[in-house]
Amino acid sequence: MAKKKSTEARLAELRERISEADHAYHVLDAPVLTDGEYDTLYRELKAIEAKHPELVTADSPTQRVGATAADQFEPAEHVKPMGSLESVVEEDGLREFDGRVRKGLELDDDDPPVRYCCEPKIDGVALELVYREGVLEMAATRGDGLVGENVTANARTIPSIPLRLLPAGGPPPELLSVRGEVYMTKADFHRHNELQAERGEALMANPRNGAAGSLRQLDPAVTEQRPLKFFAYAVADGSDLGVGTQREALARLGDWGLSINDRVRTVEGVDAVLAEHARTDKDRDSLDYEIDGLVVKVDELDAQRKLGARSRTPRWALAHKFEPTEAVTRVANISVQVGRVGSITPVAELEPVEVAGVVVRRATLHNRKELERKDIRIGDHVVIHRAGDVIPHVVRSLQERRDGDEEVFLFPEICPACDSKLVEDGVFLRCPQGSHCPARLKEAVQHYGSKRALDIDQLGEKLVAQLVDTGLVKTLADLYRLDVESLVELERMGEKSATKLIAALDETKRAPLARFLHALGIKHVGEHVARLLADALGSLEAVQATDLDALQEIDGIGPEVAAAVRDFFEDEEQASILQELRDAGVEPLTQEVVVVDDDDDADDGERGPLHGKRIVFTGKLSRITRDEAQEAARSLGAKPSGSVSSKTDLLVAGEAAGSKLAKAEKLGIEVLTEDEFLALVEESGGGSD
Ligand code: IVH
Repeated sequence: MAKKKSTEARLAELRERISEADHAYHVLDAPVLTDGEYDTLYRELKAIEAKHPELVTADSPTQRVGATAADQFEPAEHVKPMGSLESVVEEDGLREFDGRVRKGLELDDDDPPVRYCCEPKIDGVALELVYREGVLEMAATRGDGLVGENVTANARTIPSIPLRLLPAGGPPPELLSVRGEVYMTKADFHRHNELQAERGEALMANPRNGAAGSLRQLDPAVTEQRPLKFFAYAVADGSDLGVGTQREALARLGDWGLSINDRVRTVEGVDAVLAEHARTDKDRDSLDYEIDGLVVKVDELDAQRKLGARSRTPRWALAHKFEPTEAVTRVANISVQVGRVGSITPVAELEPVEVAGVVVRRATLHNRKELERKDIRIGDHVVIHRAGDVIPHVVRSLQERRDGDEEVFLFPEICPACDSKLVEDGVFLRCPQGSHCPARLKEAVQHYGSKRALDIDQLGEKLVAQLVDTGLVKTLADLYRLDVESLVELERMGEKSATKLIAALDETKRAPLARFLHALGIKHVGEHVARLLADALGSLEAVQATDLDALQEIDGIGPEVAAAVRDFFEDEEQASILQELRDAGVEPLTQEVVVVDDDDDADDGERGPLHGKRIVFTGKLSRITRDEAQEAARSLGAKPSGSVSSKTDLLVAGEAAGSKLAKAEKLGIEVLTEDEFLALVEESGGGSD
């Protein structure tokens, strides 16, 4: 008996430690265990459970994917109806809402403004989570608001959904219904689509469809493979958490281990809501997930109860939406573009249409297979989507609007830029000519100077075209051989701009390693992979010298990416261009190899004051951008993170820092001002200038 007891105790301990580690990793973005430590605990748990199947519980971390595929979803009745929100786009609509709220609360003009809780409106799919005695019992989609689909097995595979609430939130009510949004980050969505495109499989139209489709897979093992996340934003009406405000309710959910959006703000009065709406809209593109507005909620729960609900929508909340990101227009023509690795992309030339404040004239059709699958024809009416700084794309054609004059596009067999015969490469057709194809070279040069690569403002599309067409630039290295005399010969190029361009190019000679690697345009090496390579290897020489096996050992780098990196550095033409770049004085900054959770016994020389430190930036920085600050921190060996936890070493607080600063202070974490941080960077010789 005693033996049994100790087995149970060990199981409980393992489950708790693993759940905590999952929470730290997936919700707080601040791991508390190394991969190795985690695996050891997980294996031990699995082994004990295999020996004692009678002791396996539903909330055990091993039971995230246990269920087998279903034929269809069971209906699931909601604990309380799942309403939706009244929505407006215009400012007037918000002011009217505030007027109704004030009237409903019997407030006079001289009464103080209403306090609102403002939350980003996440563009995903709504989900209800029912916890009984703290254990996840059921998850259901919204359905018609009364009855949804039981997607419990799928929801269990989402790492940021706790299977059991954490004790930090105190004892939960016997039955707790949490509402929130399942979503996919923009980066995960693009990564998923890139891989799908390589494999010739269907692409997701946007992150919201991606999230919805992934959540509604009949086989939970498929859902598990999809990078889904969850933000909790409410509890069902009537759940009594013993708190007085929406803001406090969210904090409580956070303490139970649910993931809460970090841009939630409470503000006083309608003008402050408008300001928050504008601020959120401005930051929209830089967020990692898609949002389509601001949800405005009366913060006081008593006031919410007093206002009550209409049949489907509460009177105390409103969705204040942004301009829509989709629009309908006609495809005037279809052309093809040669990408920087030679892939031929079909592009829809559109009748100009405004989408979220920007006039869109072209939209990508991705690749030949996608074009065929979506059956998009010249003359079709199509839905296009534009979000953030990503290239607009065609979502689908409106086939019911065809009149018979539409034309099927015939794919060319030769490269439109250099006449080489195109070759098949998966779903893509590719131009085989390397950088000898002028179209590829233009793309490569433009990518080199693009904002997220080496950020050479002056290197616009028209100038790049001229540089290539005149033969001044035949390889990336030629950029550094440009001089004022030859530049001024070009159209629209004065001595002043020429000098500026040369100065800008000069500055890129000592670029941060990750940016340089990204700029090289290696297949599969986008910003994220470039960052992984730089953090793991530290110098260009090291990246060049690392073999296939060692590359694959880097966390986050798979065989396909590793092979692409090797191919690039083994290519003779690339090697000679790299050598020429070096001869021209290009020498990317080396950086400290970032080893988080390392045991500090390996004494390999000088280490900066930020080595291995977890650093978080919050608030508005005034002297440098957030990106530059993170880059400077990385160059000193720090590991920037998005959220504050007990593992955070340092918080840099800019203007108007909010909840992160409060949390850091509570946890006793060292806080620096922007100036103090920059002084530290300067002293340590870091930074990107
Ligand atoms: S509160 C009574 N808060 O927007 C309805 N909804 O129609 C309570 N959404 O599909 C909803 N972010 O899933 C609320 N912070 C947020 C939200 C949010 C996204 C979604 C919700 C629903 C739609 C509202």
